Amino acid sequence: MEVFETIIKRQSVRMYDKKDVPNELIGQMIEAAVHAPSAGNIQPWEFIVVKEKNTKKELALAALKQRHVEEAPVVIVVCANLEKSVDKYGERGKTLYCIQDTAAAIENMLLVATSLGLGACWVGAFEENKVKPILNIPEKLRPVALVTVGFPVSYMKPTRNLRKPFENITHPEKYSSEIVFQWMEKETDEWRFKIRPLEEHIKKLKEKITERKK
Ligand SMILES: Cc1cc2nc3c(=O)[nH]c(=O)nc-3n(C[C@H](O)[C@H](O)[C@H](O)COP(=O)(O)O)c2cc1C
Repeated sequence: MEVFETIIKRQSVRMYDKKDVPNELIGQMIEAAVHAPSAGNIQPWEFIVVKEKNTKKELALAALKQRHVEEAPVVIVVCANLEKSVDKYGERGKTLYCIQDTAAAIENMLLVATSLGLGACWVGAFEENKVKPILNIPEKLRPVALVTVGFPVSYMKPTRNLRKPFENITHPEKYSSEIVFQWMEKETDEWRFKIRPLEEHIKKLKEKITERKK
């Protein structure tokens, strides 16, 4: 899959088939995660792979009872090792870099999950103090996200969540409330603001890429 196609195709999947996810695929997601950039190449991430039913149930309770946390065949808990970042970068390492590093790792995981035909969701709404004892997470680690993973149910037709047009949020040279910037040909509002089947978006993207290659 082309990287741009995978980026567009990725979306939060919250309904999963009951079948198990082979460990090999989970391994590939984690392999992708560790190739993310990290401040000073500290690589502060650690991963806890949860498949056990009761543990997932407890995690769901700690995550505002989000059902997909309990129902996903696998939950990968991505943690940031604060100790490593604080040693090298002090407060900025602890409160910013290690969170950014793990976030980049999580996005890599989501993209590879998409390219492997898996569905995944980044879950950030959970009580850290409840999650930590469930998984024996030591003080120095901060759980940053629960990533739910499974094969998507076949009856869900994927649609694209709306995105802000990038020219409305990109500023040339300096911040300005007036945006007059255009990098790519502008989509018509009609196209942008309608929820369409994902295949239509991918088809359109491919047409654009082919046009550019001419
Ligand atoms: C930091 C963060 C926290 C999130 N927390 C949750 C969550 O607790 N539960 C959930 O179902 N989705 C969660 N999401 C997923 C977002 O709802 C989702 O990415 C967003 O609506 C855009 O949809 P898309 O991922 O399908 O493109 C979270 C995403 C991020 C980046």
